[in-house]
Amino acid sequence: MSLDDFERYPLLFGPSPVHPLDRLSDHLGGARIWAKREDCNAGLAYGGNKTRKLEYLLPDALRQGADTLVSIGGVQSNHTRQVAAVAAHAGLKAVLIQESWVDWPDAVNDKVGNILLSRVMGADVRLVRAGFGIGVKDSWRQALDDVRAAGGTPYAIPAGGSDHPLGGLGFANWAREVQRQEAELGVFFDTIVVCSVTGSTQAGMIAGFAGQDRPRRVLGIDASAKIAETRDQVARIARNTAELIGLERDVRDDEITVLEGWAGDLYGIPVESTVDAIKLTGRLQGMIIDPVYEGKSMAGLIDLVRGGEIPKDSNVLYAHLGGQPALNAYSGIFH
Ligand SMILES: Cc1ncc(COP(=O)(O)O)c(C=O)c1O
Repeated sequence: MSLDDFERYPLLFGPSPVHPLDRLSDHLGGARIWAKREDCNAGLAYGGNKTRKLEYLLPDALRQGADTLVSIGGVQSNHTRQVAAVAAHAGLKAVLIQESWVDWPDAVNDKVGNILLSRVMGADVRLVRAGFGIGVKDSWRQALDDVRAAGGTPYAIPAGGSDHPLGGLGFANWAREVQRQEAELGVFFDTIVVCSVTGSTQAGMIAGFAGQDRPRRVLGIDASAKIAETRDQVARIARNTAELIGLERDVRDDEITVLEGWAGDLYGIPVESTVDAIKLTGRLQGMIIDPVYEGKSMAGLIDLVRGGEIPKDSNVLYAHLGGQPALNAYSGIFH
């Protein structure tokens, strides 16, 4: 088997843009930093990393005759918003379980941003009181039963599309896309920086790059504040994905790097370094990142470049995975 043996339903505009962040690189005075922009990868409700994963899950859903995509996330989940968009695009229904993963005191937290967009797109949005956790939840099982009881055919998509046999394929394909773009641009990205929470974004990258000739580092930055779980999840999905796409060797432990230090104490709660990273990136580059995910991975990148862990002669590719709609639910930070 190889990646080409899996059906892909095109949802993206094409390859996502890659461009240099020159003013940020000059400011930090170290490695050259580039971004690959999943935040503008598609015309479906602002796109993002989940849209790429769903390119491989949607054909499976359609093959099974599903008429309703059922998924789960926090109230401001980017993932569920992308499921709503993909469902609308494919003429399916969406049932979304939105759990109270984040205790954030913004009065409109459950009304603006991602959840607003999901409502606009006609998804059946269900608010549930339950804390952060990326595993299988009763509320999600209940939603699947509800769809069946009403005579529908549900297709279950776990949090972040990650704990799913095909969840890593989207970013294995991303790794291939990077290689093609490098050939066009005449550059080699020796280091990739990517935010990790449910894990299949980084895991897919690791599996995809493992099949290429030239080694590089894929540095995951944990944003879940549960580092052991994130590492386990990334390792498991990377190995499963590698096997699925026919990598003819094991993924080594040293290919799986998830770093902690920028998540703060809790998922979804920005800390000082998160806010500083958001402001710096906005002010130097006009590039917008969010307080839950990308602000934390950018804070990691900034420190790794400043501290020399990423050397001066490196070309770094920052995977911008989307997530800006959530900014609306965090307006209080930027008064
Ligand atoms: C904007 C954004 N960045 C990063 C991530 C982390 O990706 P993953 O859950 O695949 O680890 C997510 C989703 O969880 C996200 O929505």
